[in-house]
Amino acid sequence: MAVKINNIGACVFDAYGTLFDVAAAAAQCRDALGGNADRLTAIWRTKQLEYTWLRSLMGEYVEFWKITGDGLDYAMAALDIKDAKLRKRLMDIYMRLDAYPEVKSVLKTLKKAGIKTAILSNGSPKMLAAAVKNAGIGKLLDDVISIHPLRIYKPHPRVYQLAVKELKVKAGRICFMSSNAWDAAGAANFGFRVVWVNRFGQPKELLPGKPEHEVKTLKALPPLLGL
Ligand code: 2OP
Repeated sequence: MAVKINNIGACVFDAYGTLFDVAAAAAQCRDALGGNADRLTAIWRTKQLEYTWLRSLMGEYVEFWKITGDGLDYAMAALDIKDAKLRKRLMDIYMRLDAYPEVKSVLKTLKKAGIKTAILSNGSPKMLAAAVKNAGIGKLLDDVISIHPLRIYKPHPRVYQLAVKELKVKAGRICFMSSNAWDAAGAANFGFRVVWVNRFGQPKELLPGKPEHEVKTLKALPPLLGL
């Protein structure tokens, strides 16, 4: 296959939903959640993201860990689940989410080809360090960039600019992967070369900024880079 994305200086990955499986927490508590596991995951994730956007608009930043807890509290209330032990269990698992199965081998392929790799995420530094350690991918990442110093969340352009600054790679030479279509749009609108990892078969967002490629898993990335 002809190289579809060339002249790349770095591959940058969104974390939650792209490298790490945000549904893993509730899935591991199916014993306590029963049929509510999928609904809890959906409400929790939606609220977590809504709070990042609303707090950014309000200028009321708090760390992603606090927002993750608030989103979970909302989801448990919405499902009328009152269980402090279960809440602690879910949050503990969220700190060490599983990586999707193809992540490690794809990162290894990129590193072998001498490509700079990084995470760019809403996650707080502590959360990202724990997730990267748990997934055993620390050695396969040149950098782990959290929005925390900016005190504003994706898809604000300052977030993507932070990756340009930290990696010293121009926007047009950064290949950015996200499963979150709104994040993919924000990154494309900023000027990254974007691959949307549409893991959940979602429709395209009607937003400024179009990904160059849509794939189902990260397995499709190395061939796009000619690897
Ligand atoms: C991340 O920034 C958006 O949750 C996603 O990792």
